[in-house]
Amino acid sequence: MTSIPVYMTAKHRECDDLFTEAESAVADNNWPLALTHWQGFSLELATHFEQEEEVLFPQFEQATGITGGPTQVMRMEHQQMRALVQDLNHAMSQQDKDTYLGLSETLMVMMQQHNMKEEMMLYPMIEQNLSQGEQLVEDFKAASVSA
Ligand SMILES: [Fe+2]
Ligand SMILES: [Fe+2]
Repeated sequence: MTSIPVYMTAKHRECDDLFTEAESAVADNNWPLALTHWQGFSLELATHFEQEEEVLFPQFEQATGITGGPTQVMRMEHQQMRALVQDLNHAMSQQDKDTYLGLSETLMVMMQQHNMKEEMMLYPMIEQNLSQGEQLVEDFKAASVSA
């Protein structure tokens, strides 16, 4: 059985790795490879955000009654990151290296700060307040196998 902080933190690392691989492929002008890693990253990130927004955050809010705090900030940051992902998608489709690398730098910084807040603060709080955390992780794993 895996705890929420362990599972979700591992997903952050997986996303980081795909993201970095896409970035270095763009830097090398290897667009086919960049696209493969980029698509992998986008999918992982979208799934991760969904698990947070549709499962973990609502359950945390329900358990604690804290609805206007950290989960709202995280949702807002997800929206900012989704907008950057859209811009990066466009730069990728245009094979626009300079724009891609500039946006990629911005998203990387935003993502690191966001992930750190979740890992240091929110995931431990979620873990503390949800009794069914390990079951939720099992559900996430099952969903990703069937996807
Ligand atoms: Fe998040
Ligand atoms: Fe996260």
